[in-house]
Parts: sequence; C-alpha cells; structure tokens
Amino acid sequence: MKRLLIFMLAMLITLPLSAYAEKAKSIDELAKLYDVSSCKKCHPKEYEEWEKSYHAISLVGSPRTMATLATTIKDGFMKEWTYSGVKDIKDIKVEHMLTCLKCHLPQIKDATDEVAQEIAKAAIDGAAGDEDAQNKLKKLGINCLICHNMKAIIHKWTDGEPEKDAVYGTKEGAHGDSKYTKLKKSPIMTESILCGQCHGLGPNFDLIEPTQCATLYGSYLHAYIPSGGSKTCQECHMKENKKGHFMPAYRDPDQAKSAVSVEVDARSLYFLMKAGDSIPTAYVTVKLTSNAGHRIPDG
Ligand code: HEC
Ligand code: HEC
Ligand code: HEC
Ligand code: HEC
Ligand code: HEC
Repeated sequence: MKRLLIFMLAMLITLPLSAYAEKAKSIDELAKLYDVSSCKKCHPKEYEEWEKSYHAISLVGSPRTMATLATTIKDGFMKEWTYSGVKDIKDIKVEHMLTCLKCHLPQIKDATDEVAQEIAKAAIDGAAGDEDAQNKLKKLGINCLICHNMKAIIHKWTDGEPEKDAVYGTKEGAHGDSKYTKLKKSPIMTESILCGQCHGLGPNFDLIEPTQCATLYGSYLHAYIPSGGSKTCQECHMKENKKGHFMPAYRDPDQAKSAVSVEVDARSLYFLMKAGDSIPTAYVTVKLTSNAGHRIPDG
C-alpha cells in the first residue's frame, strides 16, 4: 500500500511534466516545430542572406558535414566505439546523435529517438548520393529561432528560460508575428559568446564520447583577446563585411582576403666563401599577419 502510494505520488509529479513535453516524432514534425517560413515576409533581407548560409543547412554543409555524419555513424558508433550500444540504425538514440548535433542541430533535444534514427539514415543515404535524403536533411538547420530564441539566453538562473512566444533581439516590445508575438532583449545578441555556444572551446568533455570539431571560440578568448583584439564575431562576420546573416568564412573571397596581410622585404647580398670566391644570395623576410579573430584554419 505504502509503495503504491509512493508510486502514485511519483506519477502525479512526473505526469504533468511529460504530458507537457511536445516531442517531434519525425524530421517533418521537427521542421514544423521550428518553422520560420513566416519570418520571410517581413524580414526578406535577413531571410535571403540566412538561406545561403551553412547555418541553414547545418546537417549537410559543404557537404562534408553530411559525409562526416555518415562515417561517424558507420565507423564510430557501429565499429570503433565498442561500448556505444549501436549495432544498427534502430539502436541510435538522441543521446548518440548529440555527439554532433549538440552544435549542428541543438533542437534535436525536442525530438524522439525516431528522429535521431531518421537523420542518421538520411546522412548515410545522402552521403551515398541519394538526393531525396539530402533534401530531407536540408529541412533542418540552425535557423532564426535557434539564435533569436533558444540560444539567446545563456544564464538561465539569472535570466530565465527563453519564452516560447518571443523572439530575442536588441529591443523590447510587441512583434507582428502571429506565433512569436513579443520582442525581448537578449543580454548577448551582439556579444561573441552568442556564437561561442557552438563555435567551440576545445574537446567537448560534457559528451559521453568527447569529440572535437569547432574550437575557435577558445582561440578567440585565449589568443585574440589577450593580444589586444577587441572586435566581436558579429562585427567581422556580419557588419564590417556587409554580409549580414550570410555570415561567411573563406567561401567569400573578400573575407578570405581580409584574413592575412603579407609584408615582404628582400635584399640581395653576396655570401663570401673564401677570398675572391662568393655566391649570390638573396635575403628575404616574409611577415604574415593573421587578421582573423582566431586561429585559421579551425578544427
Ligand atoms: C508581420 C511582420 C513580421 C513577421 C511575420 C516577423 N517579424 Fe520580426 N519584426 C517585425 C518588425 C516590424 C520588427 C521591428 C520592430 C521594431 O523595430 O520596433 C521586428 C523585429 C524583429 C527582431 C528584433 C530585431 C532587433 O533589432 O532587435 C527579430 C530578431 C525578429 N523580428 C525576428 C523575427 C523572426 C525570427 C520571425 C519569424 C518567426 C519574425 N521576426 C517574423 C516584423 C515581423
Ligand atoms: C562544439 C560544437 C560542435 C560539435 C560537437 C560538432 N561540430 Fe562540426 N562544426 C561546428 C562548427 C561551429 C563548425 C563551423 C566551422 C568551423 O569552425 O570549423 C563545424 C564544422 C564542421 C564540418 C566542416 C563544415 C563543412 O561544411 O565543410 C564538418 C565536416 C563537421 N563540422 C562535422 C561534425 C561531426 C561529424 C560532428 C560529430 C562527430 C561534429 N561536427 C561535432 C560545431 C560542432
Ligand atoms: C547564427 C545566428 C543567427 C541566425 C541563424 C539568425 N540571426 Fe538574426 N541576428 C543575429 C545576430 C547576432 C543579430 C544582431 C547583429 C548585431 O547587431 O550585432 C541579428 C539581427 C537580426 C535582426 C535585426 C536587424 C539586423 O539585420 O541586424 C533581425 C530582424 C533578424 N536578425 C532576423 C533574423 C531572421 C528572420 C532569421 C532567420 C531567417 C535570423 N535572424 C537568423 C543572429 C542570427
Ligand atoms: C547553434 C550553434 C551555432 C551558433 C549559435 C552559431 N553558429 Fe556558426 N556555425 C555552426 C555550425 C554547426 C556551422 C557549420 C555548418 C556546416 O557547414 O555544416 C557554422 C558555420 C559558421 C561559419 C562558416 C560559414 C561558411 O560559409 O563557411 C561562420 C563564419 C559562422 N558559423 C559564424 C557564426 C557567427 C558569427 C555566429 C554568431 C552570430 C554563429 N556562427 C553562431 C553553429 C553555430
Ligand atoms: C577580427 C575579425 C574577426 C573576428 C573578431 C572573428 N573572425 Fe572569424 N574569421 C575572420 C576572417 C577574416 C576569416 C576568414 C579566414 C579564412 O580565409 O579562412 C574568419 C574565418 C572564420 C571561420 C572559418 C574557419 C575556418 O576553418 O576557416 C569561422 C567558423 C569563423 N571565422 C567564426 C567566427 C566566430 C564564431 C567568431 C567569434 C568567436 C569570429 N569568427 C571572430 C575574421 C574574424
């Protein structure tokens, strides 16, 4: 009887929580939960810039991301990682996919294991050339709601969880969108730490199987800032380059060119072997300065 009571009490405590959690059961449902098609009408410039970015297709990328996701599943989970518990696609859980999706698709936290399996299968098929699978992966990405809602608050004991009906930017007020009816001020929207949440400090020790992908926020904090750098990610990747939400790296020739400055100083002189015998010699000093706010290349 006592046990039954405790059980019923536990049910009462856990039931409302689990009933509240709305988890997507397919790629399409997850895409719908994070739908941003309504934003295009009023923010066409931001939308069109973002659409061309790698953020928009963060499960496919160049498309090395899709290819590496496939090898992570086939050669990592199913082969090298003996204790992963994955022998087949059906064994894959969200927890496994977080190894990569922690940054490449953080909204996976709102999906069931079936979605993790659907993504894994699409990555393998997509990498093998299946265009339908590639298009399926392109339905998901780091979109407006990831930066302007989910990742817009870091210190949740200080600032609370992001509100479900708000978009976060630089001001407070009403917002024309029918689902996201409020504008809220994010404490970090114009700070590098917004981007740092995914652009990596080093190995991801918080994961069960730590991996290392992006690490340049670490070098931004520990090399660029201490040596006197003062610009933010947003200043270099959105504003000074005038590329806004496209946020390019070396894909953009201007961004690539701005990365390094070269100074060359060359002098000719003669190298004396012994009296009356010399060889012509050049003395060249090349000074390469990185103007990027972090190590390049990253990873
Ligand atoms: C009906 C038009 C409309 C729709 C739809 C709409 N917005 Fe807005 N949004 C606005 C207007 C107008 C402002 C500017 C408000 C102001 O400046 O006071 C704004 C402001 C913003 C800001 C704040 C910018 C800043 O300066 O801080 C963000 C972020 C934003 N919208 C994101 C979105 C996203 C994401 C969506 C889709 C989910 C969306 N908007 C849909 C009209 C719209
Ligand atoms: C800490 C967050 C994080 C984790 C975890 C992570 N990535 Fe990345 N990844 C990034 C970011 C940010 C980039 C952007 C480019 C850069 O700085 O290298 C990136 C870039 C990449 C690229 C090159 C992009 C391209 O389009 O060519 C590949 C490939 C990649 N990741 C695959 C993976 C795989 C596979 C995993 C899991 C084993 C993984 N990543 C885990 C954040 C992460
Ligand atoms: C990778 C993160 C990221 C994504 C994805 C993203 N934004 Fe932004 N957005 C920002 C940041 C950062 C700023 C503020 C830039 C600044 O002022 O320093 C911003 C600014 C804005 C603004 C204010 C005006 C402007 O252009 O600066 C609007 C409106 C906006 N975003 C809408 C959108 C919409 C709509 C989408 C999806 C199509 C989107 N954003 C996707 C990070 C993002
Ligand atoms: C939710 C995680 C996340 C956030 C937040 C985020 N990024 Fe990224 N970013 C990624 C991932 C993942 C990639 C790689 C996508 C791929 O190619 O697969 C990437 C790619 C990039 C690239 C390479 C683009 C290219 O064309 O090669 C740049 C530059 C970049 N991000 C800048 C930023 C800046 C600036 C911010 C902050 C305003 C930011 N990111 C915020 C995850 C994130
Ligand atoms: C002082 C300007 C500056 C700052 C600050 C800066 N970047 Fe960059 N970043 C660049 C330039 C220039 C490149 C292009 C380098 C190249 O050709 O590969 C670049 C390249 C990148 C790349 C591609 C890396 C690769 O492997 O080639 C990513 C991703 C990126 N930046 C993200 C960020 C993020 C996130 C921040 C903030 C933590 C940031 N950047 C801060 C100038 C800057």
